[in-house]
Amino acid sequence: RNYKRQMRCRCDIERLNAPFLAIVESLIPAEEEKAKQNQLLTLLEKLICREWPEARLYLYGSCANSFGFSNSDIDLCLAIGDADINKSEILIKLADILQSDNLQNVQALTRARVPIVKLMDPVTGISCDICINNVLAVVNTRLLRDYARIDARLRQLAFIVKHWAKSRGVNETYQGTLSSYAYVLMCIHFLQQRKPAILPCLQGMEATYSVTIDNVECAYFDQVEMLRDFGSRNRETVAQLVWEFFNYWAYRHDYTDSVVSVRTGNIISKRAKDWTRRVGNDRHLICIEDPFEVSHDLGRVVDKYSIKVLREEFERAADILQYDPNPCVKLFEPY
Ligand code: GTP
Ligand code: MG
Repeated sequence: RNYKRQMRCRCDIERLNAPFLAIVESLIPAEEEKAKQNQLLTLLEKLICREWPEARLYLYGSCANSFGFSNSDIDLCLAIGDADINKSEILIKLADILQSDNLQNVQALTRARVPIVKLMDPVTGISCDICINNVLAVVNTRLLRDYARIDARLRQLAFIVKHWAKSRGVNETYQGTLSSYAYVLMCIHFLQQRKPAILPCLQGMEATYSVTIDNVECAYFDQVEMLRDFGSRNRETVAQLVWEFFNYWAYRHDYTDSVVSVRTGNIISKRAKDWTRRVGNDRHLICIEDPFEVSHDLGRVVDKYSIKVLREEFERAADILQYDPNPCVKLFEPY
């Protein structure tokens, strides 16, 4: 790139802080959106309860983990206790019920990796996806939300990173780039690694919350009100953190041997996880361990082409923050 090699120094980076915070502010959903979501949730609960009185409906994903932007779709999970149910049958029946109650664009996608029913509610204008018994997602949503309550900088950093990823087209798992969930885990891990640390490792502390789902033990310290001061010894601003984040992923992460692990709060080695070679379709070119399903690499969707795209985008972002005269615009320029 053709930048004058005028390195930004720390105080120049500081000047990006206010514009970054303004971007974050502009992406935060308004209060009335929450009210509309609850209105839709209540309606759906009522319809579902008639057919399956024992079932429960949970919000998960970005509308519940506090990393959601305004006007995003909502993710719902229908928890039907019985493990032996036929998900396709349930989804088709659910689609029927929803259709007859005037919900629009109702579609049962029974063959997707995560089978869902999609719908749009004409009253609130909200679109949503409903999956069945994906309770682990409900619990990891809770973990992310609890991390966000510890230090405001997590939500700020993750908003900038997600906004960058969506603008640059690298938030598309079907094209081999990373999910929003993966980016948020990268942000949490990054803040666990700052010196002094901005976030603790909740799964490394005495568990105050614990559930077992599909034989996976999910346990962590969830009394996060007690950790409100945790990061206060670290005075870094969101501008510095964004700059360091992209530098880390552009120039310092060891792609050949490192696995990012929120569960341990550390980098662990690919050898230790036996993620050194391709197994089936999992190539492990960038490794992000799921905090609960530890055999699950959120980077598994990345292939030998998309890893290049991703790394070039990390480098582009790092270079823009370092040299570009107008980084807050350039960083988010549509690709
Ligand atoms: P946006 O919709 O992009 O704002 O973000 P989101 O947080 O809703 O993320 P996403 O649509 O990527 O995922 C929805 C939820 O599914 C996540 O918050 C997780 O709780 C859960 N999830 C669990 N495992 C996976 C996984 O392997 N991939 C993805 N994408 N999501 C997972
Ligand atoms: Mg979502």
